Amino acid sequence: MTDIPSDSEVIAELYSNEDMDAPRAKRAVDTPLPNVFVPDVLPHPRFVRIMVLANQKGGVGKTTTAVNIAAALAQGGLRVLVIDLDPQGNASTALGVQHQRGIPGTYEVLLGLVPFAQAVQTAAEHPEITVLAATPDLAGAEIELVELPGRERRLKTALDSYLTTTYYDYVFIDCPPSLGLLTVNAFVAAYEILLPIQCEYYALEGVSQLLHSVQLIQAGINPHLKISTVLLTMYDSRTRLSQQVADEVRTHFPTQTLKTVIPRSVRVSEAPSYGCSVLTYDVRSVGAKTYRSAAAEIALQDV
Ligand SMILES: Nc1ncnc2c1ncn2[C@@H]1O[C@H](COP(=O)(O)OP(=O)(O)OP(=O)(O)O)[C@@H](O)[C@H]1O
Ligand SMILES: [Mg+2]
Repeated sequence: MTDIPSDSEVIAELYSNEDMDAPRAKRAVDTPLPNVFVPDVLPHPRFVRIMVLANQKGGVGKTTTAVNIAAALAQGGLRVLVIDLDPQGNASTALGVQHQRGIPGTYEVLLGLVPFAQAVQTAAEHPEITVLAATPDLAGAEIELVELPGRERRLKTALDSYLTTTYYDYVFIDCPPSLGLLTVNAFVAAYEILLPIQCEYYALEGVSQLLHSVQLIQAGINPHLKISTVLLTMYDSRTRLSQQVADEVRTHFPTQTLKTVIPRSVRVSEAPSYGCSVLTYDVRSVGAKTYRSAAAEIALQDV
């Protein structure tokens, strides 16, 4: 990869970030940039890794993480499928695919109306990323699925069948913040949970609910499901709170928490409105750098 900024450039950007208006002296304590080696070409996993982005707390960075980790893995030479399972359709917007009513997507696949392979689209800025889009119809799926046979397994059945014909290294399933049938379908289809935790007040509240839900799923319908990866998001190096949340999360998830943390960054929040990841929106930004670093850690995990 070319045009990657050095750590010192990134740190300079971090500390001059528009969001960060606190006195400079207070800030120079932590850096979210660990010493992670980021190879240009990332290794293929032994088997397809199906990861669900889940946290029952809203607005913690599930979609942002799905899109940017997918983009970073794709830039590293890997084939990635993103399934937008959230009726809000934010991942579909950020990846620049069509998702208005009538466009085949997750809803049609779940209801068995259109085969998976015919419903997928290619991300606008990332030809290596395939997307199953969420249209407004998906909002009704929670109710419509209740009546259907195998209602918790419909995504798994469709995805497993699609994966026998099409090769991917990673599948990311972006979930809504609630634990309805859509999220249960994701938990049944996936092997791993990628849990983003926002470095803010009440960060661990949604997590305890999630842990309970995961235990129920593990005890019943999907014993393979595990929280393999935790990513700290919207870290603000000026605040003691961010550091406290980070410490607490690392105590709860010592092996799963990535060394890289994603700082709060205006570039990260701007990218979706241009239908692209922060990696294409601003390759030199701290958001691009940290998401690439987090993706490299994921690709190098021993799972
Ligand atoms: N590192 C970051 N820096 C600044 N803003 C961010 C960052 N990560 C996410 N955001 C912004 O925070 C908001 C919530 O992020 P996102 O949509 O990814 O959360 P979510 O968990 O998917 O939300 P929901 O639960 O509604 O699906 C968005 O406006 C996003 O642009
Ligand atoms: Mg979301």
